[in-house]
Amino acid sequence: MTMVVPEVQRVADKEAVSREAAEEFERLARAAIATKGRFTVALSGGSTPKRLYEILAAAPYRDRIDWGSIEFFFGDERSVPPDDPESNYRMAREAMLASLPIPASRIHRMEAERPNLDVAALGYESTLARVFGLRPGSHTPPAFDLVYLGMGPDGHTASLFPHTGALRETRRWCVPNWVPQQDTNRMTLTYPVLNRAAEVIFLVAGSDKAEPLSEVLEGAPDPERLPSQRIRPVCGRLLFLVDPPAAAKLARY
Ligand code: 6PG
Repeated sequence: MTMVVPEVQRVADKEAVSREAAEEFERLARAAIATKGRFTVALSGGSTPKRLYEILAAAPYRDRIDWGSIEFFFGDERSVPPDDPESNYRMAREAMLASLPIPASRIHRMEAERPNLDVAALGYESTLARVFGLRPGSHTPPAFDLVYLGMGPDGHTASLFPHTGALRETRRWCVPNWVPQQDTNRMTLTYPVLNRAAEVIFLVAGSDKAEPLSEVLEGAPDPERLPSQRIRPVCGRLLFLVDPPAAAKLARY
């Protein structure tokens, strides 16, 4: 099996990380809609994506993209109601989804506020199976056209936190994940799904990402401690959009 080589694009500043990510969204959405009639994307939480979503919801992208042909999913969610300030869904809705012509039936949020997170995660798998035309629990996970990810200063991505149970999931597509370091439950897509994507884009900005980014890209393999290291699409592209403070400790890229 060939391993994808990560591409690192250094851009001028944090704003440019979001702008480049928006360019890529339009490019990939056009290509997918032209060939398959639709585009599937998994959104992430965090501050850099928020700016990306605002850019997409404004001119020129607002008017150039066929919003009705896009299926929106989420990479992870906090265990809070959808109107909570901590909710990734709320952030994406307010920054982008609510102001665009997107049918509600194409926005698939993780119901991580439910008391039984396992039931909620299985429900998300059923939704994925339905939209992607797969059998629930099938060995072939859904393949997104695009997955946006962020990286935490501890090397986590989505809600795959260091040394947590979800890192060891090899079969399920979506699982609850107890995160002791944050004393909270999360819900997250798993490596089997994330690594099937046609393209994964990490948005990485800020000086607190310099050390973990250099470890993830150039350090010894230690994925239990640095979960972002195990994002390696099996037959897709892996792109890191990085601002200068985050790129400060990279030697080879
Ligand atoms: C979440 C995110 C998470 C995020 C990173 C980076 O729900 O917290 O999905 O994985 O992407 O923590 O966040 P920033 O881009 O805000 O630093």
